[in-house]
Amino acid sequence: MRSLIDILELSVEELESLIAKAEDIIANPEKYAHKCDGKKLATLFFEPSTRTRLSFEAAMYELGGNVLGFSEAQSSSAAKGESVADTAKTVSCYADIIAMRHPKEGAPLVASMNASVPIINAGDGGHNHPTQTLADLLTIHREKGRLNNLTVGLCGDLKFGRTVHSLIAALSRYTGIKFVLISPLELKLPDYVKESLKKNGIEFFETADLEAVMPELDILYMTRVQRERFFNEEDYLRLKDSYILTSEKLVHAKKDLSILHPLPRVNEISVAIDNDPRACYFKQVLNGKFMRMALILMLLEVE
Ligand code: CP
Repeated sequence: MRSLIDILELSVEELESLIAKAEDIIANPEKYAHKCDGKKLATLFFEPSTRTRLSFEAAMYELGGNVLGFSEAQSSSAAKGESVADTAKTVSCYADIIAMRHPKEGAPLVASMNASVPIINAGDGGHNHPTQTLADLLTIHREKGRLNNLTVGLCGDLKFGRTVHSLIAALSRYTGIKFVLISPLELKLPDYVKESLKKNGIEFFETADLEAVMPELDILYMTRVQRERFFNEEDYLRLKDSYILTSEKLVHAKKDLSILHPLPRVNEISVAIDNDPRACYFKQVLNGKFMRMALILMLLEVE
């Protein structure tokens, strides 16, 4: 039995196989409509979500399965003090696979050590978000036709942005990847992630100036400043609008730039950009469902 807690648990070959499976699901949805008949997915969300929870649920329904779960900690027995370990043991009695989001880093790992069914990390604190990375990789692959030889700008809250940490880990295994890390000083990428880039010989540089680096980028990955991870509101209010992408800021961007954002967007991308052909963030939302379908099939070992 296999869980997915960290994107690095999937080899490059497995990522490619998941992308190929998602492409086949997109092309032939009817082939997959009964693959999970009789199976149940539990979505245990101790933190708010729109895309991740609903795309997991849509994914399971489109595979013919069923869904149960909760969307906030307060409506579960966690509110009465039940541990993550006991929750995982309990829900294993009701479901064949579990997707869990939790504000504490490592909670899905603890769940996986106690559950008797596969656990999927649907986001743990400011740490990791591997299934968002699956959505990101399929989007980049569909837009660019490759996952190598790309200059990738990551902009915004690189300190708390868990999607950034997982995406960097995944792309670091491809050749010719260069990261441009664009953030205010206070929201720089954590040292442990930079150390791993250095150890793996991955090219990167840090800047606070988005417009200066714009012409170089193949991918621009915008992120929200993560209000829920701040210790004080004043710092959040000071930093929240550090980067707002507008059409003017794209004047010197490549014509084939791909603009991604894991969403939710607060104010980081002007809505006027939604009509720009380079805006990929709503395609990313849809791609997330297909990659989660592919992942559920893999972890449930459905042929
Ligand atoms: N990208 C993402 O995790 O969105 P949600 O918080 O809406 O699930």
